[in-house]
Amino acid sequence: MIKIDYKIPLFDLNFDEREIQAVANVIGDNWISTGPRCKAFEERFANLLNVNHAVSTSNCTVSLHLALKLVGVNPGDEVICPSLTFVATVNAIRYVDAIPIFADVTSYEIPLIDPDDIRRKITPRTKAIMVMHYGGFSCDMNSIMSIANEYGLKVIEDACHGPLSEYAPNTINDKNPQLYNSSTKLIQSGKGKKLGTIGDVGCFSFFSNKNISTGEGGMLVTNNSELNNRALLLRSHGMTSMSFERSTGHSTDYDVVELGYNYRMDDIHAAIGLVQLDKIEADLEQRSIIRQYYIEKLSSVKGIIIPFKEWTYFSSNYIFPIVLKNSTFEKRDNVRAQLAEAGIQTSVHYPAVHKFTIYKEYYLDLPVTDYLTENMITLPMYSKLTESKVSFIAETLKNLL
Ligand SMILES: Cc1ncc(COP(=O)(O)O)c(C=O)c1O
Repeated sequence: MIKIDYKIPLFDLNFDEREIQAVANVIGDNWISTGPRCKAFEERFANLLNVNHAVSTSNCTVSLHLALKLVGVNPGDEVICPSLTFVATVNAIRYVDAIPIFADVTSYEIPLIDPDDIRRKITPRTKAIMVMHYGGFSCDMNSIMSIANEYGLKVIEDACHGPLSEYAPNTINDKNPQLYNSSTKLIQSGKGKKLGTIGDVGCFSFFSNKNISTGEGGMLVTNNSELNNRALLLRSHGMTSMSFERSTGHSTDYDVVELGYNYRMDDIHAAIGLVQLDKIEADLEQRSIIRQYYIEKLSSVKGIIIPFKEWTYFSSNYIFPIVLKNSTFEKRDNVRAQLAEAGIQTSVHYPAVHKFTIYKEYYLDLPVTDYLTENMITLPMYSKLTESKVSFIAETLKNLL
């Protein structure tokens, strides 16, 4: 394999001495597995999201697995989900022997699960809807929650892309001026509900390339105390107490009351997460600025669609995808290869899950997803990206197209 030294990577960590010091402090304190840092990380995350409970986990994939168990998805149940997502969203459905029923996304401009297609795919076996807030942009949660209420379905939010992203149902179409900061025209946070807190359970990832990076790591959030208590049990072997509680004299023994797992985060990862939470608001503000640069500089590039261009809700801007118009898979890959030659790393979020070999038996026609997955390109996005680099990316694309 040829190693390419990208001048502009797809993503860059927002790390400095503080993360290093935080890890050193945990090791110095002599308690490295699940303990006080995990608790502090959970409390701060829950406060930031204005949600009752947050349970740290070893990654989002296991959070999704727990979420499905918590809401009572059983073997043979159907779960409606997007195909335009990372495969883990759908794999989790298979972990509980449920059936993924793929729904298409709304449009090239709004590549989010389409509530009308969700409605079309409901059967007597449907148990839950799994949404994925692509790129940190919120699915149409008003419509999805009302469908769920109508049919008695559970809703799980894969909010991996959207920590602190918001949904404010009354403001999307009226461009409420209050959403804008008068000097910068950036969308302010705090006007809507945080993603992950609207359905029954929300799941987050802190994989290294996410908005909050801990290496591996995840979180499960819920407003429901019963679901939270069961998540705590299932996360740790179904045991009624944890090692840290016993080490601090809060408990001397335990029972095992359910078949659980080891899905715990540890204090080393949580310590990094706590530093990342100190940085998240400034990081997201910077990403909003970078998004504006992209939108301005790409406006003269013919032949592309910028999804979410008119978006008015606060977003984490996890990624910056574009869609090539009147294109093909080969053309898209050729553009990506030429961007790589210019030193620009790109990606594809995502290959269609319903076309993967293991999902062939669940194949459904999804025309919008099919076009997007073959003609989207994800451009670099991270808070340290500069305006001049965005200009270089836009100019390179313009010349190519
Ligand atoms: C949409 C989505 N779902 C699930 C996952 C799985 O997260 P993790 O890697 O933390 O298990 C990811 C992360 O890559 C993701 O992007």
